[in-house]
Amino acid sequence: MDDMRETLLRVEDLSVSFEGKNFVQAVEHVSLEVHSGDRLCIIGETGSGKSILLLAILRLLSPTAKVTGGVSYRGRDLFAMTEKQLDAIRGGRISYVPQGSGNGMNPLLKVGFQVAEPMIAHRGMKRKAAEERAVELLKRFHLGREETIARQYPFTYSGGMRQRALIAMGISAGAELLFADEPTKGLDETRVRLTAEAFNALEGQTLVCVTHDLSFARSVSSRVCVMYAANQVEEAETEELFRNPLHPYTRDMLAAMPENGLRFRPGYAPAHNDTGTAGCKYRLRCGRCSEKCRETPPLFRIGGHQVRCWQYE
Ligand SMILES: Nc1ncnc2c1ncn2[C@@H]1O[C@H](COP(=O)(O)OP(=O)(O)OP(=O)(O)O)[C@@H](O)[C@H]1O
Ligand code: SF4
Ligand SMILES: [Mg+2]
Repeated sequence: MDDMRETLLRVEDLSVSFEGKNFVQAVEHVSLEVHSGDRLCIIGETGSGKSILLLAILRLLSPTAKVTGGVSYRGRDLFAMTEKQLDAIRGGRISYVPQGSGNGMNPLLKVGFQVAEPMIAHRGMKRKAAEERAVELLKRFHLGREETIARQYPFTYSGGMRQRALIAMGISAGAELLFADEPTKGLDETRVRLTAEAFNALEGQTLVCVTHDLSFARSVSSRVCVMYAANQVEEAETEELFRNPLHPYTRDMLAAMPENGLRFRPGYAPAHNDTGTAGCKYRLRCGRCSEKCRETPPLFRIGGHQVRCWQYE
């Protein structure tokens, strides 16, 4: 089914490590394919490598990070491009809203102008028309009193508002691929719902969104990739993943969702740093662990799932 749609992004066996005093394996052997129109959510607990994965894909990591594997965008090798070629793609075709609410805004310019600016620069729109369109985009993301706040500076915005304004800016630049890292962090329930509505109303854009809000992931994504300790442990279509999770970590995580009372099963150990060791990364917390799990499991394909667990060998 997926084969009919264009492949926008292909990530092949991507690994990232930091080799300083303390070796950290932040991302290990992740492979992803993102097709045009996909809504991919990457979920996983804190420290599992979600942000580093996005940064590595976009080649935004510092040189201290050791990156192996490959990433291509529309068949073009992103890792082989010059900075200039890369900037053209990152500015226009791919937009990225980092974790940490809108640090990317210019504090000296009014928000409405900043959202309008890419339309003036890249699409040749007149300033007035572009600013009107900017207000419309801000409305899509439910910032409230949009005509007024478009004439205000970023410091008058909350972190969540700045982050949503940045997403609007990405769309205004004509990006077909949007990367958003924790777009709902710090938002109240209503704003989370409104952000989900705005994502669902995106027309034609492809979304890659990192979140640890499972309900939000379920409401905006078509596919989910679950990360645990630098590894991609399961990937499936969203409804399938929530209805029929296969990996023990996904099962434990879903069973602990707030609507299920946020209760982990007895014996569930707290998170610990066992990255870099051989064997299944989940084995010290897993209720199904066996001798075999001392070896590192590969990703197995079961129906529409990919799952990194020996039970599915
Ligand atoms: N510059 C760095 N040097 C060394 N280790 C790093 C560096 N940046 C991140 N890490 C480590 O890499 C791992 C993955 O970090 P990452 O920020 O991707 O986690 P995350 O899944 O996004 O977590 P969160 O949900 O808290 O945002 C963590 O163990 C983190 O401490
Ligand atoms: S490979 Fe073994 S330890 Fe890892 S999740 Fe599967 S059963 Fe559990
Ligand atoms: Mg992060």
